[in-house]
Amino acid sequence: MLKGRHLLDPTDFSPGELDEIFDFADQIIQSPAQFNHLCDSSILATLFYEPSTRTRFSFEAAMLRLGGNVVGFSEPTSSSVAKGESVADTIRTVACYADIIVMRHPKEGAPRIASQYSPVPVINAGDGGHLHPTQTLTDLLTIRSVKHQLTGLTIGCCGDLKFGRTVHSLIKAASRYPDNRFVLISPKELRVPDYVTADLATKGIAYQEVERLDDVIGNLDILYMTRVQKERFFNEDDYVRLKDVYVLNAEKMRLARQDMIVMHPLPRVGEISYDIDDDPRAYYFKQAKFGMFVRMALISKLLGVS
Ligand code: NCD
Repeated sequence: MLKGRHLLDPTDFSPGELDEIFDFADQIIQSPAQFNHLCDSSILATLFYEPSTRTRFSFEAAMLRLGGNVVGFSEPTSSSVAKGESVADTIRTVACYADIIVMRHPKEGAPRIASQYSPVPVINAGDGGHLHPTQTLTDLLTIRSVKHQLTGLTIGCCGDLKFGRTVHSLIKAASRYPDNRFVLISPKELRVPDYVTADLATKGIAYQEVERLDDVIGNLDILYMTRVQKERFFNEDDYVRLKDVYVLNAEKMRLARQDMIVMHPLPRVGEISYDIDDDPRAYYFKQAKFGMFVRMALISKLLGVS
């Protein structure tokens, strides 16, 4: 039963519950017009304390396509946050007006605090360098749709694995499905946090950490590229030194298998060259579209109207 639940961590829902969301997303993809009035008169609030394009727009578009309405801010300085209001008080207030709340916050754990004060479902739309569960739903739905399975995959994650919350979320969620393996490709300074690898080791899941993309790209089913997370660096010089370590281009794609797919949560800032956008293996814009459909399914399930 998903009605009334929060989504703070990608493992808050069981694989069975995720399938329920993905199956419903598939139905919406088949005939979106059928669901135009599913959330008539419901209100979604988007509280974005950090910049966003895809996540906020796809949530808002999802709610509007379900017939619901949207309120919120994309810039905390335009709300009472600028006057010093706490997350707890903002949430208690917004929950008086909205039926479901989506929150992105620079501090890890802020959406969890919000959920403790909220009588309506709270969805974590990214908390600092920690987790981004709805990007993971997007990623899993994309993989399921293209590969027709979520098991037995060799998943390469490349770029800023230290601060990239989408990677932390994806590894956490994908490691629950049998026989997936992870190839973690990053400079030493941007390796995944120890807690991520410790969790893989405890579960006995195969992973390797490497620095060179060229050496491993030919083994991958999925290459998940990520941006170096400028805003989470303490030091501009380190960012400048590390930002262009990986650039996926047509030449590198020649080393990859014909059935490997390239994913990226976006935005990209140079790590994928425009010359591969027309390669049939480039999935990042299709992935962004799956993001809207999976959020339509998620909102409906949490509101209990599907
Ligand atoms: C990601 C994020 O915000 O973590 N973007 C997104 O939601 N699609 C990735 C990023 O900003 O690099």
